[in-house]
Amino acid sequence: MIPQSFIEELKMNCDIESVVSSYVQLRKRGRISTGLCPFHSEKTGSFTVYPESQSFYCFGCGAGGDVIGFIRRIENLEYVEAIKFLAQRAGMNVPEDAAEDKTALLKTKILEMNREAARFYFSELTKPSGKAALDYLLGRGLEPKTIKHFGLGYAPNEWTSLTDLLASKGYRYEDMEAAQLSRKSNKSGRYYDVFRDRVMFPIIDLRGNVIGFGGRKMSGDGPKYYNSPDTPVFKKTKNLFALNFAKKQKLERLILCEGYMDVIAMHQAGFTEAVASLGTSLTSDQCRLASSYVEEAVLAYDSDEAGQKATKRAISLLDEVGIRSKVLSIPDAKDPDEYIKKFGGTRFKKLIEQSAGSTEYELSKISAKYDVATPEGKISALKDAVNLLAGMKNPLEREVWAAKLARDYGTTKEGILSQVQTKIKRRARAEGARAISGQSAQTTTFGGAVPEKLRNPASAAAEERLLGALMRSPEALSTVSTVVSPNDFVCELYGRFYEKLLSTLSTGTEVSLTLFGEDFTLEQQGIIAKLTNLAREHRYSAEDAAEAAKNILRLKEKKTDKEIGELSGDELAAYIERMRKAKK
Ligand code: CTP
Ligand code: MN
Repeated sequence: MIPQSFIEELKMNCDIESVVSSYVQLRKRGRISTGLCPFHSEKTGSFTVYPESQSFYCFGCGAGGDVIGFIRRIENLEYVEAIKFLAQRAGMNVPEDAAEDKTALLKTKILEMNREAARFYFSELTKPSGKAALDYLLGRGLEPKTIKHFGLGYAPNEWTSLTDLLASKGYRYEDMEAAQLSRKSNKSGRYYDVFRDRVMFPIIDLRGNVIGFGGRKMSGDGPKYYNSPDTPVFKKTKNLFALNFAKKQKLERLILCEGYMDVIAMHQAGFTEAVASLGTSLTSDQCRLASSYVEEAVLAYDSDEAGQKATKRAISLLDEVGIRSKVLSIPDAKDPDEYIKKFGGTRFKKLIEQSAGSTEYELSKISAKYDVATPEGKISALKDAVNLLAGMKNPLEREVWAAKLARDYGTTKEGILSQVQTKIKRRARAEGARAISGQSAQTTTFGGAVPEKLRNPASAAAEERLLGALMRSPEALSTVSTVVSPNDFVCELYGRFYEKLLSTLSTGTEVSLTLFGEDFTLEQQGIIAKLTNLAREHRYSAEDAAEAAKNILRLKEKKTDKEIGELSGDELAAYIERMRKAKK
C-alpha cells in the first residue's frame, strides 16, 4: 500500500486549481473557481473547484472528489496509476508497493475460480453421482434448457473435489478460501469444499461474472439454503438474483420475490422480469439498484406471515427510491414457484394483472384483520387505516382514501381526516424531537427555513422538484417562466429561489449555485444545494421541470369532497393515479 503520508505530501504538491486548469478553463469567483464540466456536456459552468478543501464538484453531473479523483476520471486511471501520474507531474518518487494491484489480482482470481466452480458443478449434473440432483431439478419442473440457462449444478457429496480441481489448475488455497469456495480445517489444517451435496445456483452480476453461489440441500436437516458469504467480489446486499437476465429486455417493472426457485420458475414460464434478493430481506441498496431500471415493482413474496411482513417492509423501502409497488396475493400456494407448478403460467399472468396497488392491499388487510361487522372491530380497523393515511405524503391522496373509507365504514370523511391530521402532527413533533437530538436520518424538512412545508407537503415537493430540475436544466427556465410565477409558490423561500433563477433570464448570468451566494444565508444556500443534488439523484430533466410547474398549478386547484364522492370507481382510480403522478 502507498503510505498515507506520501499521499498527503503529494496532494500538498498538486494544488487542485492548478491541476484542473490544465484541463478546464477556470474562472475565479471569490473563493471558488468554476468552469465547464469536462465530464459531461454543458453550456453553463456547473463545475466548481474549492481550493480551501482542495476538492471539486460538478452540480450538473455530480462528479466530485479530490485531485486524485479528478485525475482518475479525466485520465481514466486506476487509483495507484493516478497517484503515479500526479507524482511524476510533481517530480516525486512513489514508494513501491503493490497492494492495490494485489487486491485487483485477487478479485480476478476469485472470478476465475468461481467460473471454474460453476462449470464443475454444472458438469457434475451429467455424471452418475449427480443423477439424484438432476432428477431433483427435473422433478421440480425445470426443463433442461432452463437448467442450462441459469447454469445450475451439483456440488458432489465429497470433501475435496472442487478444492482438488482448483489446486490442479494452479490456484492457491488461500485464494480459494478468499473466494469462500474452500475452508481450512482446524484439525487437519487441510482445505475442504464449502459446498457439498447441494444443488447449486450461481449468482451472476450485471457484467456476467459469477460472483457467488446459493446451494440447496435436497434432504436432511440443517439450513435448506447456504449462500456464499461476502467476498471481495460479492456483496449480498447489493445484488439482485437474475437481474443480469431481467435487464436484457426493455423493463416496465420488476417482479420481486424471495427465492431462487421462484425466480427460475417465473423465468421459465416467461416472466423474465423476476428477480430476488439473495437470502436476505430486501435492502435499500437493492432498491436503489432496481430504481435505475424500473419505477414499478410487483411484490410476489411468499403467502405466509413472514412473506407478508417482508412485503410491507419492501413497500416502504421501494417507496423511498420512487418505486411504486403492486402486491401479488397468491391463493392456494406457498410461493410463485408452487403456484406456477400447480396452476400454470397463464393463471399466474392473471394474478399479476390483478395485483393490487399497495394502498388497496393494505386496506384490504386491515379490514380482514378485524371483525368489521362490530362497532369495536370497525373502530380498530379505522385506527389502523388512519395510521396508514397519516403516512401518505400527498394530502389529496389522503382525502381520496378518506372519502372511500368514510363510505365503506359509514362514517364521515372529515372525522377521518381530522384524526389523520392529529396523527401527522404527533409524528412531526416526534420527528422534530429526533432531529434536535441529532438522530434524524436525511429528512428534507429543512427545519424552520421552510415552515410551509409541513402543512403543504405536496406543493413543497413540487416546488422542490421544479427548483432542482431547473438547476440541472436551466434551458427550461424560459418556458417554465411563462407557466408559473414566484407568487404561485406556497413556500416563501422556494419562491425567492425561483425569482433569483428568473433574474438570470434578463441579466444573462449563469445558473449555478454561486447565484445564491449574495442574497441568501448559508443555511438557505445549503438547501438549494441539497435540492440540486436531489435533482441529480433523481435525474430530473427539463421535462420534469415542466411537469412540476404544472403540478404546482394543479395543486392550487383541488376537488371538493362532494366532487370526490360523486366519482365512479374508475374515475376515482384515475383521479388517484393523477394525484400519484402529481406527487411523484
Ligand atoms: N433462504 C436462505 N437460507 C435459508 C432459507 C432460505 O438463504 N435457510 C433464502 C433463499 O434465497 C431462498 C429464499 O430464502 O430461495 C426463500 O426461502 P424459502 O421460502 O424457505 O424457500 P423456497 O424459495 O420456497 O425454496 P424451495 O422452493 O427450494 O423450497
Ligand atoms: Mn418454494
